[in-house]
Formats: sequence, structure tokens, C-alpha cells
Amino acid sequence: MNRRVTKAIFPVAGLGTRFLPATKSIPKEIMTLVDRPLIQYAIDEARAAGIKEFIFVTSRGKGALEDYFDHSPILEDSLRSKGKTDLLETLENTNMESGAIAYIRQHKALGLGHAVWCARRLIASDEPFAVILPDDVIAGDKPCLQQMVEAYEESGGCMVAAMEVPPSAASSYGILDVENDFGSMVSVRGMVEKPEPGKAPSELAVIGRYILAPSVLENLSRLGSGAGGEIQLTDAIAAEIRAGRDVFGYRFRGQRFDCGSKAGFLQATVAFGLAREELRDEFAAYLREMTSLPHAAQ
Ligand code: G1P
Repeated sequence: MNRRVTKAIFPVAGLGTRFLPATKSIPKEIMTLVDRPLIQYAIDEARAAGIKEFIFVTSRGKGALEDYFDHSPILEDSLRSKGKTDLLETLENTNMESGAIAYIRQHKALGLGHAVWCARRLIASDEPFAVILPDDVIAGDKPCLQQMVEAYEESGGCMVAAMEVPPSAASSYGILDVENDFGSMVSVRGMVEKPEPGKAPSELAVIGRYILAPSVLENLSRLGSGAGGEIQLTDAIAAEIRAGRDVFGYRFRGQRFDCGSKAGFLQATVAFGLAREELRDEFAAYLREMTSLPHAAQ
């Protein structure tokens, strides 16, 4: 099996109901952390990991996402004529090469596994691929997927990003049943999607970065619905283990923000705001002032 990972699937069909009313007219993935939409963080991470082809699984109402990746010649000309080269560069970094990006519609909201399966015809039968969930934003010196691609070159198999979570949070995640713990990598003997309270096999949760063997797509074709009545990616990866193939959890170095929740999104906004040199001093001073005056915004 080839071990170069050059394609990534971005499941972006979700309705984003947790962010209503904003998501009534803008896709959740276009919501911004500081000045970049969530999807841009995911794309940058994919590029850093060597991804060349970007497959978006979308749904009705996601047109703004397609526009976002388009070139905008009028805006670019205007910035060029005004000599605004830094903004021009920012803009050009969001452009996608023709043919590098594909959009597939998920016609029914049947779950994450189904969304990934919708892209099956774009992945060859010997081709590993990545899956990135843009809700999980990960800050780190080396982007998470790049860390995983490097580890995967040695390990092969399937690999999921993993992070310890408190037992009380386990029922929000896919949880790994760990066979051997090697430190940054663990080998996995089972996986459970959103276990019932008290039934999680460990505290190690799957975070939204995956490197998957194409056989996972075949598993998805045969899979019935799982947790929450949805077709679960976790179940299709667990089927690899039952077929005798390797699955690893990778404890990435970095900080993960759950931007699918309001609290997580706000935390990410603060962290990424403070990470910006041009904002840091003013923003930090404001936060200090706010924390000494609780409820100031009420
Ligand atoms: C999805 C996956 C789950 C994983 C989580 C990470 O769940 O199904 O296994 O732990 O992403 O964010 P969701 O958050 O879409 O319910």
C-alpha cells in the first residue's frame, strides 16, 4: 500500500444548528476566528501536511464556502492598484488551484460516516486519505495532520488523532480501547462511538483528524446505523481492527479547541487573538480589565 497521503476529505455538510441564528445564512465553517474562517485553518493544516487535493462534502446552503475558495479578480485588481501587497498576499493564500478542489453533496444527513462515504469515488482503491473535521481547530508548533502523516509513514494502517478527555465528557466522543500504549502512539483493539456514561473503554478520545485506508470506505458501504441512529466513521474504522488490520491513536502535540461549541469557539477566539502580535497587547490589557470586572458585558 502506498503511504503518501495527498487527498483530504472535509465533511462540511452539517447544519450548524448550535450557532443559530448566525448559521441561518452563513455556513458554520465560514465563521471567523479573528479574521480567518474556520475552514481556512483546516486547509492550511492540510497543505502543511502535503495534501494536494481537497474534497468537500457539502449540502444545501453551503454556497458561501465554494465562493470563498474562488479567485476574486475584482478585489485582487483593486488591492494591486492601491499597492496593498500584504492584503493581496493574504487573499492569494486563500485561492485554490483549478482542479485541486472537489465538492460532493451529501443529500441526506445520515452521519459522519455517510458523509465520508459520499466521497468514495474520488479515492483510489490503494490510496490512503485524510479526513479533517474543521470544527476541531488545533493550534501547535507543527500542525497536527503533519505530525500524523510523519508518524503514518512509519506505521501504515489507520490513524486517528487522540486526546485524553475527562470521563464525564467521554460520551461526546469516539473512544479508543487501547491495546498497547507507546507514548505518542497507541495501538487500538476497539473503538466505541459516544459510549454511554460509565461504559467508555478508556479516556482517550478521537479528535477530528484521521488518516484512513481505502478499505474503510468499503466498510462504510456495508455499515448500518450506529450511535444516535447515524452511520458512524468510528464503526467503519473499528471494522478494520476486526479484519485484522492496524489502527493507531496518535497523541498529537498541540491545543485542540472544540469550535463546534460556543464555549470552545470563544476560547479559540481568545487564544488565536492573543497569538497575533498586532493584537496581543491591546487584547491582553482588555482581558485583564474584563476579568477584574466580571459581568461587564451583561
Ligand atoms: C465526531 C466523531 C467522534 C469524534 C468527534 C471529535 O463526533 O464522530 O468520534 O470524537 O467528532 O470532534 P461529533 O463531534 O461530530 O459528534
